[in-house]
Amino acid sequence: MKQFLSQRDVYQPINFVHKALEYKRGGFSAAPQLGLGKTLGLLFFNPSLRTRMSTQLAAAKLGLQTVVMNVGSEGWALEFGDDVVMNGQSVEHVKDAAAVMGRYCDILGIRCFPSLSNRDADYSEQVMEQFRKYAGVPIVSLESATLHPLQSLADIITMEEYKTKAHPKVVLAWAPHIKALPQAVPNSFAQWANVFTNQFTIACPPGYELAKAFEPVLGYEYNLDKAIADADFIYVKNWSSFSDYGKNPPVEGDWLLNEHRLLSNPGARIMHCLPVRRGLELSHDLLNGPRSLVLEQATNRITAAYAVLKEILEALK
Ligand code: CP
Repeated sequence: MKQFLSQRDVYQPINFVHKALEYKRGGFSAAPQLGLGKTLGLLFFNPSLRTRMSTQLAAAKLGLQTVVMNVGSEGWALEFGDDVVMNGQSVEHVKDAAAVMGRYCDILGIRCFPSLSNRDADYSEQVMEQFRKYAGVPIVSLESATLHPLQSLADIITMEEYKTKAHPKVVLAWAPHIKALPQAVPNSFAQWANVFTNQFTIACPPGYELAKAFEPVLGYEYNLDKAIADADFIYVKNWSSFSDYGKNPPVEGDWLLNEHRLLSNPGARIMHCLPVRRGLELSHDLLNGPRSLVLEQATNRITAAYAVLKEILEALK
């Protein structure tokens, strides 16, 4: 693997999920020396708990040294525009910063959220693309403007562990929120879920459909109760509108999932990538109850990061 920016960078994604599970079952002892003498740089333009900790833990299991930089709050303000006269607020051009970091590190992980104001700019993945262009080392997405592949890989690994049939019904269920959130997690989850099962649908209010490239194999369902009635996995997540970009158009009906709504489906498992706003996005009873897989997903962030870093290190040999 030369980079990990999307599911498309993975050759045979489901085989890769099986490989990741083998590493986990083996206690991550597959390649303790592989990263020795090499450095992983983790650059955060935005906050993180799980991605930051799990990627460092996975790197340590491979012998990789990690350098973490909160670029967004502690680094020089970066310029991304081409051929601009830098007489404004930005201090350093990404061409120079990325090239320097590429000299310091063998792999760079980058987290950069979207503006949610300029759809074309966000969906062109300007930040990630410029690091990819100028760093000269493999880039790993720690969540970009439009995708969060490490999260989705962890999600699919978790579903693979808990599934009871070859093609479980998977529902990505839109949930309420007080803020406009990116589409990165749902986009990415849709990419992976579409190869994991032929029973994948998205339940959301009209106006919250994802970009065409992320359409679910079973299409959209606009009635939450109908969608979840026979679901095996329900992945709860808020996202803002793609068509009315970055906005939260008004929603009719109750989209908060709780135990009561799932009484007739005792086998359904509940997923969320976290952080979650309890009582707003998802009910306390579901999060606290036996259906919840949220801690398993968070744990598998280490599994996912280990599998990705191992594959990239092998390609660097
Ligand atoms: N799910 C996830 O990426 O968590 P963090 O934002 O805390 O890294």
